[in-house]
This record gives sequence, structure tokens and C-alpha cells, in this order.
Amino acid sequence: MRVLALGLAALLIGAAGAGSADKPAPLPPDEAGARAFFLKAAPVFLSPRCLNCHPSSDRPLQGDASRPHLMNVKRGPEGKGVTALRCANCHQPQNTPGLHMPPGAPNWHLPPPTMKMVFEGRTAAELCAQFKNPEENGGKSLDQIVEHVTSDPLVKWGWSPGDGRTLPPLSHKAFAVAMKAWADKGAACPE
Ligand code: HEC
Ligand code: HEC
Repeated sequence: MRVLALGLAALLIGAAGAGSADKPAPLPPDEAGARAFFLKAAPVFLSPRCLNCHPSSDRPLQGDASRPHLMNVKRGPEGKGVTALRCANCHQPQNTPGLHMPPGAPNWHLPPPTMKMVFEGRTAAELCAQFKNPEENGGKSLDQIVEHVTSDPLVKWGWSPGDGRTLPPLSHKAFAVAMKAWADKGAACPE
């Protein structure tokens, strides 16, 4: 009951717009600002370091051209590969030094087949809608999405991807800041 009343109060304050000085209400939503920050972050998701683990098919991709993974490696029932071609057989908790050696980070795997979290071929608007939908994002809240892109080891790997691999188009810091600003401003999606 109390929670409901507080929620209603927050809604009313929100509807009345900014201005109530005595209450630390959340920032008023800023749709244009949120969209601009998402559009700033979006190219990172579509860069090869991220895209290669978020394919639309059941095979990881590799390299800057995002070609299908060598040796017919498959997603498998948990995203961890199948039988002899389990990801962890080749991918260590850290990069293996040398060109064309397996990259690595703790628990290297794809999203599972039941929740594929596809980035490949998605527009910024589609990615945005996906990140806001718990049925497509692994049951995450917006805060958890921001937390994930800020500190998940597989995300952070994108900025230390091992010898010969290019980096995403923004620094990790600028990317994480843009995603947080998007969420804080109400998480509106680009058209
Ligand atoms: C037989 C060994 C082997 C297995 C099994 C394997 N990989 Fe790989 N993987 C490699 C090697 C070697 C490379 C590096 C290829 C290169 O750089 O030319 C690689 C590269 C990749 C890349 C590309 C990274 C990038 O951004 O370019 C991804 C993504 C990847 N593997 C995911 C997986 C996943 C997920 C699995 C399990 C479903 C898996 N791999 C299973 C050997 C393997
Ligand atoms: C080695 C494979 C791998 C790499 C590389 C990778 N991811 Fe992921 N990503 C996953 C897996 C597995 C999950 C689901 C597991 C989870 O929720 O922790 C996931 C989940 C996510 C999610 C939340 C789910 C969604 O789609 O709504 C986001 C956002 C995300 N990754 C962003 C990134 C970004 C940004 C990069 C590049 C900087 C990246 N990932 C690189 C494997 C990877």
C-alpha cells in the first residue's frame, strides 16, 4: 500500500513537471537526450567485438569481417558449444597471445538458444527495444543492463581483445557513460 502511494506520488510529481525543490524526484524524462545518447552508444553493439558473440544464427562469428567461426563451431544447448567443440576447450579465461590465437575471458560463451540476444542485423531502434524488454534481455532491469555494459567481463574484453583485433568505435568509458545517460533520461528509443 505504502509502495503504491509512493509510486502514485512520484507519478503525480512527474506529471506536474519539474520544479518541486524540496523533493529529490528523479530527473524529468528527456526523450531527445535519451535518443541521442543511445545513438551514440549503438555503433559499439554493432562493432565486430560485440557482434561476433551476438549473431543471428547459431554460429559465433569471427574477425573484423564477422565471418562464421572456423571449424563449424555451434552455439549448443547452453551457448557453450557442443561435444568436442566446447568453447572452453579453446577459449581460456584470458587471451592466448599471438595472431589468430583464441581470444579469452572468464566463461567465454554465446547467449543460449532460448534467449539469443541478437545484435547482428539489428537497427539502433531494434537494439534499444530489445534491451528494454526483459523477455529478450535475460530478465534484466534497465539498471542491470547499464551494470552489464559497465562491468561484465565479456563486455570489457571488447577493449582488450588480444593481438591483431580492432577496438569498438568509442572508449569503454564513453560507451558506459552514454548508456547510463540514456537510462537516466528515461530510455527513449530512436525512431
Ligand atoms: C577448436 C577451437 C575453438 C573452439 C571449440 C571455439 N573457438 Fe572461438 N575461436 C577460436 C580461435 C583460434 C579464434 C581466433 C580466430 C582468429 O583470430 O583468426 C576464435 C575466435 C572466436 C571469436 C572471434 C572474436 C573476434 O571478435 O574476432 C568468437 C566470438 C568466438 N571464437 C566464439 C566462440 C564460441 C562462443 C565458442 C563456443 C560456442 C567457440 N568460439 C569455440 C577457436 C575456437
Ligand atoms: C564471448 C562472447 C561475448 C562477447 C565478446 C560479448 N558478449 Fe554480450 N553477452 C554474451 C552473453 C553470453 C550474454 C548473456 C549472458 C548474460 O546475460 O550475462 C550477453 C549479454 C549481453 C547484453 C544483455 C542482453 C541483451 O542483449 O539485452 C548486452 C547489453 C551485451 N551482452 C553487450 C555486449 C557488448 C556491448 C559487447 C562488446 C563490447 C559484448 N556484449 C560482447 C556474450 C558476449
